Formats: sequence, structure tokens, C-alpha cells
Amino acid sequence: MGKLEQIAAAGEVVATHIFPHASHIGKEQRGLLAGQQGATLWLTGLSGAGKSTLAYALERRLLAEGHLSCVLDGDNMRHHLNGDLGFSPRDRQENIRRSAVVARLMNDAGMMVICAFISPLRSDREMARQIIGSDSFIEAYISTPSALCEERDPKGLYKKARAGLIPAFTGVSAPYEAPLAPALMLDTGVLSLEQACERLFQQLCPHFI
Ligand code: ADX
Repeated sequence: MGKLEQIAAAGEVVATHIFPHASHIGKEQRGLLAGQQGATLWLTGLSGAGKSTLAYALERRLLAEGHLSCVLDGDNMRHHLNGDLGFSPRDRQENIRRSAVVARLMNDAGMMVICAFISPLRSDREMARQIIGSDSFIEAYISTPSALCEERDPKGLYKKARAGLIPAFTGVSAPYEAPLAPALMLDTGVLSLEQACERLFQQLCPHFI
């Protein structure tokens, strides 16, 4: 199965008589012009683990070093492109699928993309890897322990979930499957924001050469 067919197979394609066109300009050519090869850093972890904070800190760091990047954050994506999706397993999968397609398009344009999604299921993250392409997909597990995430509770959501006000809340009443072999594992309960950000930056460095 070709890449486009794989992407289509993961979604619900209802259109018929559609013939995709291939660009004559490759990702490498665009990357040469951009001075970097687009890649996606995929941050996964519980709500409150520090994914968004890290993603935006890294975005600032990249900008300071002259590298174009963009954050795709779950909370933000759910306000526009994915505004029609909830938190059922199917909707979470669709949230990840659409976001990975966007990340891939941006990578192809030479952009560094930092994705911050709980993305609790291994199968969904594997789908994201397939869509984006293994060579451009870097998985970082923000492994902050659940007890600390719940203690931080920056949006008061754990409290609400414990009170039964939010159904299927990840880590409380819905599962989180930790990555088995992430490229990087960062516990924001142990590392400072600067330390964690530096580790992520170093992981991306090969894509700037
Ligand atoms: S994902 O599971 O589909 O990857 P995503 O990262 O987009 O989730 O969104 C997670 C954010 O949605 C959380 O940080 C939290 O603010 C909010 N949220 C609302 N309901 C839930 C829920 N049931 N489970 C987890 N997060 C939720």
C-alpha cells in the first residue's frame, strides 16, 4: 500500500473518482532551501505532564536559533480543525490522524513540527508514525508521574474527573499506554524546563545539518 493510500485507509474516505497528484519537488529539495529537513517531534504523556509548556519553550528556542517551527497542540487543535471531536477512542484516533496529516504536510514544506497530544494509545501513535514517516518522526515520552500531574492539575480537570464530571479522562477513567521505546523520555518532575528543552533540541539537531 502506498503512503497516500495508507493515510486514506486510516480515515473514512467517502469521495470517489479522486486522483492524487504527486509534486515534482521533493521534501529534500525544500529542506535544502529551508536549511533544515522537516521533522515532527511527537510529545506524548498525561494531561499536566508538561507537554505544551515544553513544546512552546522549544518553539522559542528554535526560533532563537533561526529554525522555523510550529506547535500543534491538542487543546488548540480541538478548538478549530478538530472541534467536532470528543474523547471516545474513535474520536481520539481521528484527532491524532488529522493532526499527523497536518504535521506531515508541514514537514514536507520544510517545517519543524512539535506535536503535543496525550495520544494515549500505542496504536494511534504508530498510525501517526506511519503517516509522518519513520525517518521524520521522533517520539518523546513526557513521563511525569500521574500522581504529580494530578497534584499540579493546572486546569482543575483531574478534580472534576475524580468527581465524575468528566467521563473517560486519561489516567483516571481512560487508559494511557506508555511508549515502549521512545527516542527520549523526560520527567518534568525531575528535569527543569531548560534541561528538558535542551534535551529535545539536541534530539532535533541532526535535522538542521
Ligand atoms: S488526545 O487523547 O486526543 O490525544 P488531546 O491531547 O487532543 O487528547 O487533548 C487533551 C486535552 O483535552 C487535555 O489536556 C485536557 O485539557 C482536555 N481534556 C478534556 N477532556 C479530556 C479527557 N476526557 N481526557 C483527557 N483530556 C481531556
